[in-house]
Amino acid sequence: MSDIAKLQIGDNSYEFPLVKGTENEVAINIKTLRGATNGVITIDPGYKNTGSCESAITFLDGEKGILRYRGYSIEELADKADFLEVAYALIFGDLPNKEELEKFHSDIKAQSVVDDDVKKIIDAFPKTAHPMGVLSSLTSALTAFNPSSVNVDSEEDMYKSIVRILGKFPVLVAWTMRKKQGLPLNYGSSSLGYVENILKMMFEKPNEEYVMSPIIKNALDKLLILHADHEQNCSTSTVRIVGSSHAGLFASLSAGISALWGPLHGGANQAVLEMLEAIKEDGGDTKKYMAKAKDKNDPFRLMGFGHRVYKNFDPRATIIKAAADEVLNDLGVNDPILEIARGLEQEALNDPYFVDRKLYPNVDFYSGIIYRAMGIPVEMFTVMFALGRLPGWIAQWKEMRLKKEPIGRPRQIYTGENLRDFTSIEKR
Ligand code: SDX
Repeated sequence: MSDIAKLQIGDNSYEFPLVKGTENEVAINIKTLRGATNGVITIDPGYKNTGSCESAITFLDGEKGILRYRGYSIEELADKADFLEVAYALIFGDLPNKEELEKFHSDIKAQSVVDDDVKKIIDAFPKTAHPMGVLSSLTSALTAFNPSSVNVDSEEDMYKSIVRILGKFPVLVAWTMRKKQGLPLNYGSSSLGYVENILKMMFEKPNEEYVMSPIIKNALDKLLILHADHEQNCSTSTVRIVGSSHAGLFASLSAGISALWGPLHGGANQAVLEMLEAIKEDGGDTKKYMAKAKDKNDPFRLMGFGHRVYKNFDPRATIIKAAADEVLNDLGVNDPILEIARGLEQEALNDPYFVDRKLYPNVDFYSGIIYRAMGIPVEMFTVMFALGRLPGWIAQWKEMRLKKEPIGRPRQIYTGENLRDFTSIEKR
């Protein structure tokens, strides 16, 4: 393949260099397009064919169902790593050695106290507030309590902000859930591992010793790893573009949480459970919901199905589906919802509408079944997605800032009124 792309507009032809990645992906570098063509731009709603950056963090191959963080396969990481070492690899580039991991965890624990005034903010929310809205607000509010974390340029200052948010975010997650449940807000124990302490903060009861379940701890480790990054998805692109204005890390993350909340994105894991519950209430009539999903006049979509990039199985869904079996079996949970999910999947995998559009189960289809078996309320499912995605968002923000990427500011094609005169209200 030559290393240039040719473009013909009218009688003029233009050449643009090709960019090739380490996995042989190819892009046309159109940085000079508008200037060279006297104003012609590209347009691509939803950026389905447009790359926003070059990144060394995560590689996806949607056709082959491949996902790797820093070159490590998602299958190996989910099977052999723990969440904190995966977070380290995403943010700093390689899996840590023992000393690096211990220092990272120690620096995070040193930052795991949240200003008590944050409790006043939580108290101000109604118990009916959706946890994603609370979490996004609290994450942004952290800037007020840590002003030095706003505009950080040096890697040293970035490191301080990174360990600060990795220490405080799990506390905000636990407090957000416990506030809705009317439970006291706590800190767990610094003697525990990162994921163990998240579980203790979320689930310990004020009047009894919290007993750690290795099954639940391993399941949460795996789920957080599987959600940790996913290249330039909607919420990560949001973190990058907000961060590109040099808004601080916490403000950028708060924006990412809001983007993740949407039911077409991370909010799908909650929508999947609500859909499966509705099908169960409806007597398990999966065919009715399949028909709704295919009906162009019906806004209903089969939640947990389809993906912008994966036109094959989402490798995370494959791992989570197997884990759902194991966890429910190990916990002795028999959840009829799992059977409905399996039935729906089988129907969709044999239905031409889904097969022709390459719509397969995605990461959100089975994750909620495990969260529910772990005792996590359905409204907290997307918060758990955010907890997993945090290191990915951080890694992508850090890469964007260290590469000194320009502020994100897309162009447009104007389709409104041409110039017209102002008319006074008497004449309108
Ligand atoms: C995540 O980007 C990421 O990496 C995201 C994520 C991550 O880790 O960050 O992987 C996490 O967000 C997973 C996706 C969770 N969302 C859902 O499960 C919601 C249901 N899925 C859809 O809304 C949809 O599949 C999207 C949003 C995921 C992808 O939408 P696209 O790429 O814009 O595809 P599209 O809307 O253009 O659909 C193409 C066709 C359309 O039909 P036609 O117009 O060709 O006739 O497929 C149909 C769509 O109507 N379609 C569906 C469908 N998804 C797509 N029809 C029924 N049910 C569905 N779920």
